[in-house]
Amino acid sequence: MARGDNVYVCQSCGSIQSKWAGRCDSCGAWNTLVEEAPSAPLGTQASAKKAKSGRLDLVDLGAETPEPARLISGIGELDRVAGGGLVPGSALLVGGDPGIGKSTLLLQLMARIAKSGARAVYISGEEAVAQVRRRAKRLGLADAPVALAAETSLNNILDGLKSEKPDIVVIDSIQTLWSDQLTAAPGTVAQVRACAQELVRYAKKRNCTVVLVGHVTKDGQIAGPRVVEHMVDAVLYFEGDRSHQFRILRAVKNRFGPTDEIGVFEMGDQGLGEVANPSSLFLDGREDGTAGSVVFAGVEGTRPVLSEIQALVAPAAFGTPRRAVVGWDSGRLAMVLAVLEARCGVAFGNHDIFLNVAGGLKINEPAADLAVAAAIVASALDVSLPPKTVVYGEISLSGDVRPVGRSEARLKEAAKLGFERAIAPQGQKSETPHVHIDGVATALDLVQTLRAIAGE
Ligand code: TYD
Ligand code: MG
Repeated sequence: MARGDNVYVCQSCGSIQSKWAGRCDSCGAWNTLVEEAPSAPLGTQASAKKAKSGRLDLVDLGAETPEPARLISGIGELDRVAGGGLVPGSALLVGGDPGIGKSTLLLQLMARIAKSGARAVYISGEEAVAQVRRRAKRLGLADAPVALAAETSLNNILDGLKSEKPDIVVIDSIQTLWSDQLTAAPGTVAQVRACAQELVRYAKKRNCTVVLVGHVTKDGQIAGPRVVEHMVDAVLYFEGDRSHQFRILRAVKNRFGPTDEIGVFEMGDQGLGEVANPSSLFLDGREDGTAGSVVFAGVEGTRPVLSEIQALVAPAAFGTPRRAVVGWDSGRLAMVLAVLEARCGVAFGNHDIFLNVAGGLKINEPAADLAVAAAIVASALDVSLPPKTVVYGEISLSGDVRPVGRSEARLKEAAKLGFERAIAPQGQKSETPHVHIDGVATALDLVQTLRAIAGE
């Protein structure tokens, strides 16, 4: 390759190739190579010259650094997910499907922060100023002192911010920005990476919180550049089912707080409202006595959350039986089914199985194994669990039911919502009055309990 020839950059993993190919050698993705003019990697030209001669300042690990005061937005669900407010000088990425409510959430956030006296700047690369104003008016936020701009050029943004000196900046979205140092189109890996890098550097240097919005592809990755996830201090995903009004803000990476914490919101005509008690929301409209419906006592981050797991086992019409899952891991479902078949003698060979977590919640906990097994077996036997019962426990490949953490918190939440029984791992003690534990040692115990209800 002659010097100066164009190179091909994979839009999925960012690797650089000299020749075009249908498939990226490095990550295996198809049709992701895009031609770009070569550019020296950022930070090697100008900043290399400026770098001081080699001196390394070593300090004590134990020395005290004062904790910076965090920016508290007053939106409790968001502050908790961020680890107790936003950290000055940090960079955050808020990812989510288009239309899920990212711009709405961030506009509400900025209005609250601006009203508390901090200087807040909202830069929209997707919507015109009039559109953002209209939304602010509809949300009743038009009087908030948020500075607004519609801009996509990184250089203009950085120049403008120099005089503005904001405490917090929202960039909506990182995929619309472009830097004139690169010839690549906006939204490509090279542009997104370069712009994110500059903005993260700006955040650290000026001690300003920078919030980047990123769109997510269908398979759940921040479109193209996973690289951005590594650059920022925290990654929050805003997820949910667009047909439901619930939205969940989930921390998947956080240098300043716990991950796996969730915040629950409800989309209404006044924008996003906080949901202080998600369990009652997820169980809203559920009735005892439905075959295949089980209440799982789960824990999301620091908070216990009850949710409904529904299963439907139906004879397969023809061909390979279907296994469809919404809100849970399909690999984990295959494992639970294998255990039920091999250790408990329940055969699903010619049955379709559908599993759904109601309300658009996504469950990651292994503690849901027992609840999933209960829902599937109950549906297969066409029985319902005893009324006012919650289920939790992890199932191992041997068929044993293992104890799980935070049992007391799960039981307390169940008691608060009027549940009276818990099907839980044997030996798990309870100090919660009014909730009786039915201990199960193996998955077979559970199946036998359900068979007894069915009268088999
Ligand atoms: P938006 O914040 O524009 O999504 P994103 O920035 O993630 O693409 O949200 C748009 C959706 O939210 C849109 O379908 C309309 C809905 N919505 C409401 O239901 N109520 C509201 O008050 C607002 C502002 C939006
Ligand atoms: Mg938007």
